[in-house]
Amino acid sequence: MAVRTTSIPTARLDVVIAEQEAIFLARQPRSAELQRRAVRSLAGGVTSSWQITRPGVVWIRGGRGSRIWDVDGTEYVDLHGGYGVNAVGHAHPAVVRAVRERVANGTHFAQPAEDAVVVAEDLARRFGLPLWRFANSGTEATMDAVHLMREFTGRRLIAKIEGAYHGHHDSVMVSVYNPLEELGPVGQPWSAPSGAGIPKEFTDLTRIVPYNDVDAVERLFGRHPGEIAGLIMEPVMMNAGIITPEPGYLEAVREVVHTAGALLAFDEVKTGLTVGPSGATGAYGVSPDIVCLAKAMGGGVSCGAIGGTEDVMAHVVEGSYDQVGTFNGNPLVMAAARAALTEVLTDDAYRRFDHLRDRIVSGLEAVVERQGLATHVVAIGAKGCVTFSADPVRNYREFLGIDDRFSHCHWLFQHNGGVFLPPWGKAEQWMLSAQHEDEDADRFVANFERFARAISS
Ligand SMILES: Cc1ncc(COP(=O)(O)O)c(C=O)c1O
Repeated sequence: MAVRTTSIPTARLDVVIAEQEAIFLARQPRSAELQRRAVRSLAGGVTSSWQITRPGVVWIRGGRGSRIWDVDGTEYVDLHGGYGVNAVGHAHPAVVRAVRERVANGTHFAQPAEDAVVVAEDLARRFGLPLWRFANSGTEATMDAVHLMREFTGRRLIAKIEGAYHGHHDSVMVSVYNPLEELGPVGQPWSAPSGAGIPKEFTDLTRIVPYNDVDAVERLFGRHPGEIAGLIMEPVMMNAGIITPEPGYLEAVREVVHTAGALLAFDEVKTGLTVGPSGATGAYGVSPDIVCLAKAMGGGVSCGAIGGTEDVMAHVVEGSYDQVGTFNGNPLVMAAARAALTEVLTDDAYRRFDHLRDRIVSGLEAVVERQGLATHVVAIGAKGCVTFSADPVRNYREFLGIDDRFSHCHWLFQHNGGVFLPPWGKAEQWMLSAQHEDEDADRFVANFERFARAISS
């Protein structure tokens, strides 16, 4: 189904984008200068390809509380959140204290340190899964989950949702950001390699189903009896704006997967600790066999974790699956994670997220109403986004139908108006922290109103 997109004349949109890009560039001469230097030693002038922003890369000097400053000295309300990491905000005193104490006491031994137990206990309580291990990124966490599902079942194939991103390892770089013509028939999607360097022999092992479609999961498992180890999925899709599960969908998926003797892994790298204290697992009340975490769990330090049932993690305990890594459970990460989980991401933080989110959503919706924009707002916990379509979006193919220029234009208005949002257009969402205030939310809404007026006039 095609979604009805916002009916603003796109010629007008292009003019407004050009004006805003000119303002953007004029504001950041020092960033441009650093970028000219960076390209001589950093490939592409950045440290990850998703740090490239259009029309120029923004170099950051530091952050405190809800604010960050670029190298030109401009202050922003940070709703980028470092791609969903900074639920604690910047330089939170509890995290600073924990990290400082740890640094002064040695940061790496490749032997466990006590904070790891506190973090594992906290995660076990939140997610209802008894046993945990740590990794260093979301990519490593989902890679472990895929390996474990295969090892547990002795099966080679895995299933994933069309359009979902789970990190950049071979098994999951399949049908991620591919264009419509590469996705295949809707009833039986292809396994499209996403990105270079991934042989088809690998991607063929990953089978694709659309989100919010239980029948498709049933059909897939029916076509491959006894062959699919498990399904890895984001319970709420968060790399296609935000797409929420329809009522009963997650429960039904779990039932189909378990009936087929396979496992269900929730990739909560983005949703865990942001959509609620116990992630989407808690918010929707559906327990998977494996949960993958990263991002917000580490209080701003690179991290990853997987939790599992006794049965699944028995394969780690007994050593049939070696879950390993030099930096796993690194004491610096564990100190930051302990402070984040036990001192910052408390009930108060989630009450603050709810309050600020409601303030933003009602502000944005009032603007949408006033300006008559065919647009809607999707928000959950600390996260939210404006989706530039009149209709709700149910899956990746519908998401592809949205004109990305609206999100880019909105991003520019926010940036030039002192609010930093994630740069990757319609795919990303805003992120609140435990240190944001009402005035931060209000600045975001005011910028949205300026944007809405500019494109509607
Ligand atoms: C849902 C999801 N899973 C996994 C990852 C990979 O995490 P990382 O970038 O820490 O490897 C991401 C990153 O954005 C993600 O959004």
